[in-house]
Amino acid sequence: MLIKSTPNWVIKENQATPEHIYLNRRTLMKGFAGGIAATSIGAIGGAAFAQEGRAAMAAVRNEAYQLDRELTPEDINLKYNNFYEFGSHKRISANAEENLVSRPWQVEIGGLVNNPMTLDVDELIAKVGGLEERLYRLRCVEAWSMTVPWIGFTFAKLASLVEPLGSAKYLRMETFGDPKMGNGIATQPWYPWPYVESITMDEVANELAFLAVGAYGKQVSNSMGAPIRMHLPWKYGFKSIKSIVKFTFVEERPIGFWEEISSAREYGFWANVNPEVPHPRWSQATERVLHTDERVPTLLYNGYAEQVADMYAGIEGQELFR
Ligand code: MTE
Repeated sequence: MLIKSTPNWVIKENQATPEHIYLNRRTLMKGFAGGIAATSIGAIGGAAFAQEGRAAMAAVRNEAYQLDRELTPEDINLKYNNFYEFGSHKRISANAEENLVSRPWQVEIGGLVNNPMTLDVDELIAKVGGLEERLYRLRCVEAWSMTVPWIGFTFAKLASLVEPLGSAKYLRMETFGDPKMGNGIATQPWYPWPYVESITMDEVANELAFLAVGAYGKQVSNSMGAPIRMHLPWKYGFKSIKSIVKFTFVEERPIGFWEEISSAREYGFWANVNPEVPHPRWSQATERVLHTDERVPTLLYNGYAEQVADMYAGIEGQELFR
């Protein structure tokens, strides 16, 4: 199998602002003011971000999760994406909107659990009960960053539904693999489809580990990984797998999509953010904030050290930051 050693989503640090962001900036800034008003009241209506076809989602904001920077305007999050199932560039949005059929959507949760289940994503949402909104940072391994007002629930809630056995050591997650939905699957056969990611049971239990089913007061968009995706704000974005169809609790550590492609040389299992550990081909010391184009210092664990550092005590010898 032909494997590209350099993922196409690797961009040069000094790359200019993509044209569509530049052209949209004035409109975006207008929308941004409305967005803050809509979200700061806690219960989200999403009216300020109305976009066709996605139902509004009500969720109470969890005020424990605060940002140290502005919210990224929704239009940027919708249209600047990594989603290789739709192509190896940032402008997959129209393709994903047209071809990803995100409802009905079956989710299988099984493996080493007491209570395996396969259910519709909306049934899953109803079962976990009580969606919350959290404002999280996202730091891509390519050294850009954004912020997202995610709506969803913790991994711990998913785990409590199926009751993992003591023998479960990891949670493996898998994206859909249908090339009719994601034409990038057929046109890029050298990638190890389907996209797979995994985390440890400690990480599953961490209060920050989040499954997002909405953003900006509505169902999550196709381009951002509808109908359900993970978000781990202290890790590089490639860990946060989109459009999940299968959760499996397993004993052996699974190999992730980018880990396999790079033979773990560039993208590893842990992928925790650390400004002092450069990627083999570029520095991770700073990041470009997407909607301002400002370059700011990157923080250890993307600023979430207090909540996550303990999980890695005693395993410092491992490649925690790649
Ligand atoms: N999940 C799937 N299934 N396919 C992908 O190509 N890209 C990852 C991650 N999840 C990807 C994925 C990468 S590299 C990043 S940075 C984030 O999704 C980007 O999320 P966003 O497009 O919502 O910003």
